[in-house]
Amino acid sequence: MYNIFKKLLFKLEAETAHNIAIFFMKFLSEFPKLNLHSIDHFVLNKKLQQNINGIKFINPVGMSAGFDKNAEVVKALASFGFGFTEVGTITPHGQSGNSKPRMFRHIDERSLQNSLGFNNRGSRVIKKNLQNVYPFSTPIGINVGKNANVPGEFAIDDYLNMVEYFANLGDYISMNISSPNTKNLRDLQNSDFVSELFARAKELTKKPMFLKISPDLSPDEAIKISLKAIESGASGIIATNTTNDYNVVSNAMHLGGISGIALKEKSFTLFKEVAKEIYGKGTLISVGGIDSGEEAYKRIKHGASLVQLYTAFIYKGYHVARDINLELLDLLEKDGYENISEAVGKDL
Ligand SMILES: Cc1cc2nc3c(=O)[nH]c(=O)nc-3n(C[C@H](O)[C@H](O)[C@H](O)COP(=O)(O)O)c2cc1C
Repeated sequence: MYNIFKKLLFKLEAETAHNIAIFFMKFLSEFPKLNLHSIDHFVLNKKLQQNINGIKFINPVGMSAGFDKNAEVVKALASFGFGFTEVGTITPHGQSGNSKPRMFRHIDERSLQNSLGFNNRGSRVIKKNLQNVYPFSTPIGINVGKNANVPGEFAIDDYLNMVEYFANLGDYISMNISSPNTKNLRDLQNSDFVSELFARAKELTKKPMFLKISPDLSPDEAIKISLKAIESGASGIIATNTTNDYNVVSNAMHLGGISGIALKEKSFTLFKEVAKEIYGKGTLISVGGIDSGEEAYKRIKHGASLVQLYTAFIYKGYHVARDINLELLDLLEKDGYENISEAVGKDL
């Protein structure tokens, strides 16, 4: 079925296809039949359930930030079997993002390239959208960023305002200082900024907070800021965002960040290095090129308590979370584990 949709959607420009998909998912969300427990996409099995940082996750496969920027399709994503959804990136004020076209497919490499630049409707509208669904049956992460017109020296205010503004909504906060699409944003990936950010944010919320890092950091840099984040109040690390290493695909444009299969090795390599230091000190979430149960399990065995994906949803379709969860159950069975948490970090 998805192959038919995909053929039609792939005839359209990538961002237009995305907007159409969001429109239909929003529409479907209004159907009571799409109730979480009424369709077979959601894999309910005790072996996949974990309690992490005080949050109950029914399965470990989440939709990563950027797909549901405005918190409009949380219900549909849960129906498709995702164990959690990270909405955003949300900025204090709505903004239109960078100039179009700004989303491209690299079909042979099952990858995407985007330079969207935090296009979102802004915190006020998105708060209303979230209030309509929260509390929800699966955890919701709130991914926050700064507005493009805010200079670096005031960036921290945008992040802290967002933490405070969403204090009563969502289950965790994700600090995004790793997008390649907002000028100079990645400069915030330094110890001083990260330690001040988390030290001040933890005064504003009781929710677990995560730092989302770039795959283009050196392992030393990534470990340094990850340790700093945890020391200053973060509960864990999300690795990684998209890459601006344009050698990973054959026909890259020199703009934005690349995701999907082309990012897989790079993302996993950095994740592994970070996990060696952070495992046991904070929670690890792995994202970047995950498109199968085998790949998800590999990340889990290297220390990830949870995994996320975005690009595989576009290439493999709305069954992907269910398929990964079913494959994970087989892999757990093979290894004789009673619960996914027993596999976390086993290959470190
Ligand atoms: C079109 C697109 C938009 C994205 N927007 C965001 C975003 O707003 N915030 C963010 O933290 N990550 C964003 N990401 C990055 C994803 O959350 C994820 O980290 C990255 O795509 C790697 O995962 P994947 O290979 O499974 O897609 C975006 C990715 C894509 C493809």
